[in-house]
Amino acid sequence: MTAKAAVIGWPINHSKSPLIHNHWLSRYSIKGTYEAIAVAPVALKESIQRLVDAGYRGFNVTVPHKQAILEHMDFVRPDAERIGAVNTVVVGADGTLEGRNTDAFGFIANLKLSAPDFNFRGGSAVVIGAGGAARAVIYALQKEGVDTIRIINRTLENARALAAEFPPCEAIAWDHLPDMTKDASLIINTTTLGMTGQAPLELDFARVKPTALVHDIVYAPLETPLLRAARAAGNPTVTGIGMLLHQARPAFEAWFGVMPDVDPDLVKMVLA
Ligand code: ATR
Repeated sequence: MTAKAAVIGWPINHSKSPLIHNHWLSRYSIKGTYEAIAVAPVALKESIQRLVDAGYRGFNVTVPHKQAILEHMDFVRPDAERIGAVNTVVVGADGTLEGRNTDAFGFIANLKLSAPDFNFRGGSAVVIGAGGAARAVIYALQKEGVDTIRIINRTLENARALAAEFPPCEAIAWDHLPDMTKDASLIINTTTLGMTGQAPLELDFARVKPTALVHDIVYAPLETPLLRAARAAGNPTVTGIGMLLHQARPAFEAWFGVMPDVDPDLVKMVLA
């Protein structure tokens, strides 16, 4: 029988997930399908049921359903519970729904491959932004043993709320950005700044340690102004595409039974 999976969101045409999963289905010669399905917020519950009834093995969940879907799950894995968002649903043989979050896995798997010598326990991290992506990043960093994490965000209350949920994170006001990066060993942008059409995120690299690893989770463009400036200053950098590709791996494995690799053809195709 053909194994079916999908991604649901509203709107959905921006999603790269069909490209990724269909690449792997063909690469591993698996008889399966993966499609993008537009699901309006009001139709979330009935759409989930329709997928279960049609025999789907599961589906990815994207904006704006990642939090709203939690209440429709029969089980939520502890990491998804802690991050407060589900991006992957696995349908059991009995039709039960298990909510997972693979963003933290994707973030760490990519970071370890991109910067194998990076020592998580060796310094402090600055997380720029306090939205959904920041939550997964902070959860993942704490799991890897980073104990000093500073969250800086345009809206200080959002940084404070997030820091309170993930102690001992510290919340910092946006105007301290220039002086808070100086002893960081890892700087991560989780905001939309630097994305095509958005203002750049500007950091003064004269005030950043030359060994600090700079990671932008924005992947369009692949080299954001932040990463370009970091590279010009000689800092090691990590682009955002890897997190996107690696977060898809455990979902594919759950539905189709093979843990796929991020191969160069996949990277090329997603960036094209
Ligand atoms: P995601 O799920 O991708 O993290 P999100 O939850 O909407 O998206 O979070 C977006 C983040 O980008 C927030 O930290 C937001 O800051 P606010 O909390 O102040 O809204 C940040 N952000 C968006 N536009 C920004 C801008 N122009 N300048 C600075 N930060 C910005």
